[in-house]
Amino acid sequence: MIIAVDGPAASGKGTIAKALAKHYGLPHLDTGLLYRAVGVSVTRADGDPGDAADALRGCAFDPALLDDPALKTEAAGKAASIVSAHPQVREALLERQRDFAMQDGGAVLDGRDIGTVIAPQAPAKLFVTASSEVRAQRRFRELDAMEQGVSFDSVLADILARDERDSGRSAAPLRQADDADLLDTSDLSIDAAVQRAISLVEART
Ligand code: C5P
Repeated sequence: MIIAVDGPAASGKGTIAKALAKHYGLPHLDTGLLYRAVGVSVTRADGDPGDAADALRGCAFDPALLDDPALKTEAAGKAASIVSAHPQVREALLERQRDFAMQDGGAVLDGRDIGTVIAPQAPAKLFVTASSEVRAQRRFRELDAMEQGVSFDSVLADILARDERDSGRSAAPLRQADDADLLDTSDLSIDAAVQRAISLVEART
């Protein structure tokens, strides 16, 4: 059983994917972390995330980087969304994600293009979303605890810029697969969103 969970930044897709993996006893891959690792590895090497050659070099990151807390920062998210627009970078990370999806017993993957590109054959696909204000509010609460001095408006502006980049790029843009179920978490608690996700998956498998 492959479960594909896609959606924009701070939509709740990561939390839902983790909960589904736990519920079904499946391994889970947060594919955003791969792009974040590429972005961080490029900036640490003083490269330019917008440069395709620099970004491609970043794909050879040290696997230990995946556990680095620096990957969770807004700066890493921004660098990730810039490097992820290069088709060469997406190509370099493709096999690793497909192999994860195809392992015996199944898997849960979350990202932007799981249902459209990485595992279009997945029987269960969720497109998780929420209004930009709600997503910015969630991100703001997380960040405020970590980084002092961030304003809500700057978080909202970052979210909107990221949406624009992720949906507007030509390589595997963020979009709902035709056969994906939409799950809007704007007015749902985490528990309610997870319950809804489980019933949507049940109906498809
Ligand atoms: O999900 P997360 O916020 O960690 O993703 C960081 C960035 O990585 C996204 O804004 C997006 O540009 C990119 N990404 C992607 N495809 C994926 C996962 C993430 O392009 N499957």
